[in-house]
Amino acid sequence: MLPAPDAPILFFDSGLGGLTVLGPTRVLLPTAPIVYAADYAGLPYGEKSNEELAARVPALLGRLAERYQPRLAVIACNTASTIALAHVRAALDLPIVGTVPAIKPAAEMTRSGVIGVLGTEATVRQPYVDDLSARFAAGKTVLRHGSPGLVTGAEAKLRGEVVDPEVIARAVAGLRDQPGGDAMDVVVLACTHFPLLQNELQVAVGPNVRLIDGAEGIARRIAHLTEGQRWPVKASPGIAVFTRSENNPPPPLAALMPYGIGTIETV
Ligand code: DGL
Repeated sequence: MLPAPDAPILFFDSGLGGLTVLGPTRVLLPTAPIVYAADYAGLPYGEKSNEELAARVPALLGRLAERYQPRLAVIACNTASTIALAHVRAALDLPIVGTVPAIKPAAEMTRSGVIGVLGTEATVRQPYVDDLSARFAAGKTVLRHGSPGLVTGAEAKLRGEVVDPEVIARAVAGLRDQPGGDAMDVVVLACTHFPLLQNELQVAVGPNVRLIDGAEGIARRIAHLTEGQRWPVKASPGIAVFTRSENNPPPPLAALMPYGIGTIETV
């Protein structure tokens, strides 16, 4: 049976990074009802263990799916996807779209044969990344660096705060200072928070290095999986839902309105 037209797409991330996946999805599916969920009580995921995330993410997504009855869920977070995607698929009776570091397109793009992967500390140590490198970037050099500072910086930027240029410089140096780093000509933004700092990162890497992320590919995948389904005739404002955290209150609604969000809830 086809989902009802008002059944939403559920986007899930530890914080606001998943908005970079929501953006291109709204271009393809402009009237899709949206629920954007951020696990602020668990942010940052990049500093959590695999065990913790493998338990936390399916449990939370299960609660959210029960509450919002989505037609499809998007794990708009590389850390959660590389660790918990299989657990979520096993636990939920719902199509699940994950986020995978864009190593394949980066390997097709590089001329020097040196690719950088900038992610969270958890993502860059995953065997999943070894596997992607072996399958799609054999014979190339894949440098990796985990930058928690960029996650904090991206959250701050979206709240209208200034991003410390040192944080950006340190993240780039983390790749460039590795053997072979001078030749790097493509950098994969393997954390959904990082495209929020695209301009700052582009200035820091210089004009000869291309930055790539998987957001548009994920948007196309969502459109493909929902092909033939019914949607509302008119767009209505989406809901953002945050897990309750004392240290980390939800951002002002104005920061989310450009992404079509009209209401903030906490759970
Ligand atoms: N946005 C997330 C990702 O794509 C994780 C950020 C974090 O919570 O550390 O990996």
